[in-house]
Amino acid sequence: MADSELRLFDTTVGKKAVMAISGVLLLGFVFSHMVGNLLIFKGQEAMDAYALGLRELLGGMGIWVARLGLISAVVAHVWSAIALKKQNSDARPVGYRQIAHQKSTAASRSMFYGGITILLYIVYHIAHLTFGVTAPGEFVDGAVYARVVASFQIEWIAAVYLVAQVCLGMHLYHGAWSFMQSLGLSHPRFNHYRNMFAVGFAMVTSLGFAIVPIAVYAGVVK
Ligand code: HEM
Repeated sequence: MADSELRLFDTTVGKKAVMAISGVLLLGFVFSHMVGNLLIFKGQEAMDAYALGLRELLGGMGIWVARLGLISAVVAHVWSAIALKKQNSDARPVGYRQIAHQKSTAASRSMFYGGITILLYIVYHIAHLTFGVTAPGEFVDGAVYARVVASFQIEWIAAVYLVAQVCLGMHLYHGAWSFMQSLGLSHPRFNHYRNMFAVGFAMVTSLGFAIVPIAVYAGVVK
């Protein structure tokens, strides 16, 4: 096949664009989810009302539209990650080129395995807080605040969440840094601001999530 006949998604640029656009949607989701979780500091009523409000959005349709969007973004993100990884290993550079590419390969490798860890965490997290798997006590539908508080009093559950936030923070940092590059929006003059944005976004989001198990475990939220 001639180069001009390549379809966009077959190219590295196309796959990186899919990864970047789905990544930006996921950045938006994690940030708003983190802000929503902070309602735990306002108390049980505020948090449970928020969770219920999400479920009742657009007469119950809203949450499914959001879930569908979220699942599509995750599938697109994982698909492009696997496709890019396969492409890299198929065309493994040799000789001096290997040295030149070492740094970016190490970063993308840690993104790939970090991403798998986050995916496993999300599976556990939904089983845990949406369906009550490993949450102590009886499952009461809609009692989100009570489930979160009872869970994070248990050391190993709080620890799983904290470790996940470390992985998430690193993934968000690299993702927030590289999506602009993938979309052709980078310029050496602005790289300093890009880095500041990536560090700030990753720190605020992962610390915003982490403060919930920490506050519960420390007994600040009961
Ligand atoms: C301390 C950190 C976190 C807390 C306390 C938390 C809390 C919650 C709660 C309470 C729910 C269930 C709401 C309900 O059943 O009504 C939920 C669902 C969910 N969370 Fe988290 N979350 C945390 C971190 C994360 C992270 C880091 C991600 C993604 C990277 C994430 C992704 C999700 C997803 C995808 C759902 C399912 C949404 C749905 O379809 O209902 N969460 N979270």
